[in-house]
Amino acid sequence: MTFSSATAIAHPNIAFIKYWGNRDDEIRLPQNGSISMNLGDLTTRTMVTFDSSLPRDMLDLNGVRQGGAALERVSRHLNLIRGIRGVSAPAHVFSESNFPAGTGLASSASAFAALTVAAVRAAGIEMTEKDLTRLARRGSGSAARSIPSGFVEWYRGDTDRESYAASIAPAEHWGLVDCIAIIDSSEKKTGSTEGHRIAHTSPLQAARVEDADRRLKTCRDAIEDRDFDALAQIIELDSNLLHTIAMTSYPALYYWQPATIELMKEVVAWRQSGLPVAFTIDAGSNVHVICENLAADKVKEKLIKQSGVQNVILSKPGRGTILI
Ligand code: DP6
Repeated sequence: MTFSSATAIAHPNIAFIKYWGNRDDEIRLPQNGSISMNLGDLTTRTMVTFDSSLPRDMLDLNGVRQGGAALERVSRHLNLIRGIRGVSAPAHVFSESNFPAGTGLASSASAFAALTVAAVRAAGIEMTEKDLTRLARRGSGSAARSIPSGFVEWYRGDTDRESYAASIAPAEHWGLVDCIAIIDSSEKKTGSTEGHRIAHTSPLQAARVEDADRRLKTCRDAIEDRDFDALAQIIELDSNLLHTIAMTSYPALYYWQPATIELMKEVVAWRQSGLPVAFTIDAGSNVHVICENLAADKVKEKLIKQSGVQNVILSKPGRGTILI
């Protein structure tokens, strides 16, 4: 093969039950299963071209040529895919996202989901969705959950083979909206990969992991029954557990800003006064305010007025990764 190209579109996802800590960092076997919702209004489009005339892999992200750690991580993932089929050609990867760079949202989930699906096709490999999720997982754990459609569970599994993701409900199942309150748009100092690596240093991680199956079941049931109150309670607990682990790891990671905690308290108060809203926060200070679609305009209006909130981005549930 001298030249072969494919393009894929993927969405990032917001975790309701979060992945934090691996049993095996090398192949990303997580300590607990996780559940998320794809964010259909945020999109990453990636074209991969294997071209034997290139001197080495090349990566362009939103029009900017990358080197260093970003290129290395992508090359490592491409090597896995090249290894499946004995492809030796370097690749040119062009990737663009419709969510502005520097919103703190730049997601490895949509990046590695789109990269995996495009590169597998460009390498001429046939793969099931399940195997694509296992492969995407090796690039970035949360990317496994951006391959299937809608609401997705990534099963912990005891081996590489058993640790995969699958849809538990289609995007149309529940009209939720993620109203993302941007509090800090700078790159976070410590990324998730480092957070996973040190999670075991928290004396509380074992208790968090031990309780994970219960939280997963509660969340799965809440999604199935479209029970917003049950969802609200379990996602806020799960988010607080993750941040408790981060804050009690060594070295301690403090992702929240003062405006983050102010907003968390506001969201709980809004819910108590009858608005169907709940918060969840990933490894950063931005607050994902989940609500039912009828409340979305009101929630956005309230969020914009909140001190410390720079911008609000809305997204409905989205489909899985597709080839175009
Ligand atoms: C807090 O998937 O970004 O968003 O596997 O090292 O790429 P790597 O980590 P990543 O971790 C995501 C952590 C999280 C929770 C979640 O999405 O489940």
